[in-house]
Amino acid sequence: MRSSDLDRSIVETAYARWAPIYDAVCGPVMVNGRRAAARAAREIGGRILEVGVGTGLSFDDYDFTTEITGIDLSAPMLAKAREKMASGRYPYVRDVQLMDAHRMSFADATFDCVVAQFVITLVANPEQVLSECHRVVKPGGRIILVNHLYSEKGVAVAVERWAARRIRALGLRPEFPFARLQAWAQANKDANLVARRKVAPFGIYTLVCFERAVPSVAYDHDPEKWGPVFRTDHAQNRQPRHRAVTGIG
Ligand SMILES: C[S@@+](CC[C@H](N)C(=O)[O-])C[C@H]1O[C@@H](n2cnc3c(N)ncnc32)[C@H](O)[C@@H]1O
Repeated sequence: MRSSDLDRSIVETAYARWAPIYDAVCGPVMVNGRRAAARAAREIGGRILEVGVGTGLSFDDYDFTTEITGIDLSAPMLAKAREKMASGRYPYVRDVQLMDAHRMSFADATFDCVVAQFVITLVANPEQVLSECHRVVKPGGRIILVNHLYSEKGVAVAVERWAARRIRALGLRPEFPFARLQAWAQANKDANLVARRKVAPFGIYTLVCFERAVPSVAYDHDPEKWGPVFRTDHAQNRQPRHRAVTGIG
């Protein structure tokens, strides 16, 4: 954990306060980012895990092509999500659970897709949470993040750093750099960065997508019987993909 990372007690206290007003305040402000992430998740479909599901504002963005499981650290936020489930409008939402994203109780490779909307920048240890997301997503599945990420150039950097010190107690964190997400992927040989793009219309939020690589065939191969194996060299493949997706503002 770095000194700038939020610890668990700040997050729990902050979101207990946010819960009664969260939908009214954060619903409209973050709607474009939330919808972009859910749209990307729907393209994959199947079993979707929403990490930091909060009050369940994203439930409207899914449909019967998906089965949603949500986890969150905040009981008051989850209580709001459960109220939405009780309305009967979201039969495709299977379950929401009180769970810390740093230590999930799901088995490896449980989900087709893991989504974290406005979460990764405020967990205590983002790299550990990414590794947990990677563990519970199936090979070939995706991790989709949406957040406001650090402006890596211009006066916005100084403004965001100044603001960050003042609003951390609200459970918010605007100064998180994209480079930290990229470094996590580069350190994990099975994680490919497959998309990084600003979300329209204003480009305030960034959508980042990682794919868990499908392992190469692991069996006792007899080349005389079956012919040569054409292995995918992950390290060589990864670089061009990184370059292709990171040249965005
Ligand atoms: C800004 S809210 C986003 C909620 C929802 N994803 C949305 O888009 O409206 C962040 C949520 O992440 C949750 N959270 C923070 N740290 C967490 C952790 N370690 N494990 C699970 N949830 C966490 C908070 O309790 C809060 O509900």
